[in-house]
Amino acid sequence: MANLFFEPSTRTHFSFESAEFQLGCKVADFSASSSSVTKGESLYDTARTFEAIGYKVLVIRHPDDRYYERLRDITIPILNAGDGAGDHPTQCLLDLYTMWEEFGSFEGLKVVICGDIKHSRVAASNKEALDRLGADVRFAGPAQWRREGYPVMDFDQAVEWADVVMMLRIQKERGAMADMPNREYLTRYGLTMERASRMKPGAIIMHPAPVNRDVEIDSRLVEAPQSRIFRQMTNGVLIRKAVLKRAFGYPPFREETGDRGQS
Ligand code: CP
Repeated sequence: MANLFFEPSTRTHFSFESAEFQLGCKVADFSASSSSVTKGESLYDTARTFEAIGYKVLVIRHPDDRYYERLRDITIPILNAGDGAGDHPTQCLLDLYTMWEEFGSFEGLKVVICGDIKHSRVAASNKEALDRLGADVRFAGPAQWRREGYPVMDFDQAVEWADVVMMLRIQKERGAMADMPNREYLTRYGLTMERASRMKPGAIIMHPAPVNRDVEIDSRLVEAPQSRIFRQMTNGVLIRKAVLKRAFGYPPFREETGDRGQS
């Protein structure tokens, strides 16, 4: 298989790679800057080349929303490792798994997602999935980064209401800029020690990372007892192993019987 990352990544790239190694895959690591992309080769021709030379699964991260629509004629599985501000499906699955580990159910789960919602594929994927699973999802943060159809809640109220407080960083690579110093951003929109002290007992802190410490979250909260930020990363490997097995055609787990087929 091949990992085609056209945007920087630490967690997604290397947890996919860890999952691939654990499953015994042979993995090609692709760097756009040392490939024929620098000569003008398109995404389609790049992916088609990997298919033609024998690769069985592609993992792709790309800055364009819905890049995969250009790859409809590729016949091998393509796993979306993030498309622009569109979606981040495996991040969403690992987030859901982390919530499920904690609460065992999504029905009525109160989730607030705070920060740069407009440019966040994590916010988009989590909204879609959590809505479908019956959670109550609200959004907070600066007004210029809201999205239509995303219900807003005042963050100071939300920290007392939520079971899950998910913080997002400012997506500077997509043109977002906070027109204030970091300290002011933290005070106005971030998860400060004071706000965290008002969270409900049992409520958890999440963040897809990378974290900009002391911007969207006080550095002391990143590894606090109620934080699941590094747990999310650990869970990312499990989720990506499951997604890879599905891509390679393993039968899905059937909950009613506990039958895992031949896997
Ligand atoms: N959460 C996430 O997608 O991190 P990376 O950009 O480091 O992969």
